[in-house]
Amino acid sequence: MIQKLKAVSSLSGSVQLPGDKSISHRYAMLAAIAEGISAIRHFAASQDCHSTLECLQALGVEISESGDTVAIHGRGLRGLRAPLQTLDAGNSGTTIRLLSGILAGHSFESTITGDASLSNRPMGRIIQPLRQMGAAIESRERDLPPLKIRGGSINGMRYTLPVASAQVKSCILLAGLYGKEPTAVEETVPTRDHTEIALREFGCTVRNAGNWIEVDPAPRLKARQLTVPGDLSGAAFFLVAAALIPNSDITLPGAGLNRNRRELLNYLMRAGMDLSVENETEEAGEPRGDVRVRYSPALLEQELPSIRGAETASLIDEIPVLSVLGSQAAGGLEISDAHELRVKESDRISAIAANLRAMGADVAEKPDGLIIQGGRRLHGADIVTHGDHRIAMAFAVAALSADGETRIHDAECADVSFPGFWDALLRICPLRDRL
Ligand code: S3P
Repeated sequence: MIQKLKAVSSLSGSVQLPGDKSISHRYAMLAAIAEGISAIRHFAASQDCHSTLECLQALGVEISESGDTVAIHGRGLRGLRAPLQTLDAGNSGTTIRLLSGILAGHSFESTITGDASLSNRPMGRIIQPLRQMGAAIESRERDLPPLKIRGGSINGMRYTLPVASAQVKSCILLAGLYGKEPTAVEETVPTRDHTEIALREFGCTVRNAGNWIEVDPAPRLKARQLTVPGDLSGAAFFLVAAALIPNSDITLPGAGLNRNRRELLNYLMRAGMDLSVENETEEAGEPRGDVRVRYSPALLEQELPSIRGAETASLIDEIPVLSVLGSQAAGGLEISDAHELRVKESDRISAIAANLRAMGADVAEKPDGLIIQGGRRLHGADIVTHGDHRIAMAFAVAALSADGETRIHDAECADVSFPGFWDALLRICPLRDRL
């Protein structure tokens, strides 16, 4: 599907966010190895999280859905059944990497793969530590999926992460549940800690000591009733849209405000955005609240604070849309230490650079980031998304402040993390501006 968009005069209203993708994956997987029936409300309707549910069903887990609540009949820590066919993680890196940790704890053989994009993403980062823990894993050449996993006899280990990745950290901690002794992971750059929080909620023992996170083996996970907060990475598109379009005023109720993820809000406030958080609450260790943003012209009159080091890891999923914002700030934006963006659902560094250039921006690509010259008004263009949801949605935001028409190709890929994105965007546009 090609989504056509043009500039709008303002954006206003409330946007219902989908359930957080990262948290939904974790709740589903832990519920599947818990004892009893868990009910997960506001479960992400995204394709990625449905890939996780389908894999779990293929592993013998009974799952039913009613509205946005998912009921998962836990099979106990070692209760998953050998799948009859290859497990399909679709487009989802979180599904393949986290589930591999759990599969490593089961003695049957299973094979897990994904779509063309996922089949070209690096898995050595989980293969190597899982082998070190005792799992037998085969892959295609260059550590690419499909992964054939036979686990069962897992040793605990102490492991320092060579890349800043919550997926790798989580994979090892999940495998650690099956270890003969505790497993500890060291991260020198902090990444999202939803796994640690969720593990505790399901009754596991997780200790933090400096940069080390340690999990005890052989827990009995208890089924839970949980509500997933709204996805702040999905909110990011609307936050940036409000920053770009005069007179905008948008509210995003119930957004997840986990300390690792809310770095996005800190960053935008540091850049001069008029942003407030109200009605903050916490449930199951995950804070949430209503985020309100208003257009703030001062933000676009300067250079955006450069993004580098640990901040890059905290903003990793938001960099596509922050790059669009950078192109419209008078002083531009420089992004560094973002090598990981090259191995996401697409090579996001080159996708951002190519699409921004197509819209008239002056952008230089670095191996680990971008130098975006600011202040040039964008014009409409054909956007090549490479089927990458965050590229599609980031350039939808760019289109709303560009001259002429923009055509987002393969726009349906937004469903990977934000089903209903196009309708949500349309609903906050003034009637007169709708194409
Ligand atoms: C995720 C972690 C991040 C992020 C991805 C979701 C997770 O990936 O980009 O969208 O749920 O753990 P990495 O951990 O590989 O950086």
